[in-house]
Amino acid sequence: MEPSQAAALAETAKFEKLCGILDHYDRHPARLVPILQALQEEYRYLPQEVLSYVATSLRIPEANVFGVATFYAHFALEPKGKYVVRLCDGTACHVKQSIPILEALRERLDVTEAKATTPDMLFTVETVACLGACGLAPVLVINEDVYGQMTPQRAVALIDEIRAKELQ
Ligand code: FES
Repeated sequence: MEPSQAAALAETAKFEKLCGILDHYDRHPARLVPILQALQEEYRYLPQEVLSYVATSLRIPEANVFGVATFYAHFALEPKGKYVVRLCDGTACHVKQSIPILEALRERLDVTEAKATTPDMLFTVETVACLGACGLAPVLVINEDVYGQMTPQRAVALIDEIRAKELQ
């Protein structure tokens, strides 16, 4: 199969998935938030063209859809890495030295606050407000997995482990 054909097929599959999600929620404007949640789960972020299509399908102004997508911190408008590494920088974690962990992660992955995703799209490093697990401070979350009593060395070891697994 030609690469262009494969790309076209992948686009069609993506579009079908998008329509499936919209249909599942009856293309109802009142269900915009769950629709966006499902789309983010599917794409790992909310591409601009997808948001425009959602607006058209739900017959609501694009500005409303973008307004909701930008209001909730949970929604991402930029693509993120396969592994989203979130370091808690709430008060308890901050006091227990979360910043050196953040610095060690950024150094290891060669990312910054402005350029938070690695070029291979494997990792995104972010900080979050209190995760409600202050007893475990400092807390690191990688996708859905929560790690407590983190240290810079352990955090870097976790990243190295994931990378090694991905390279297998
Ligand atoms: S401050 Fe980090 S979990 Fe509460």
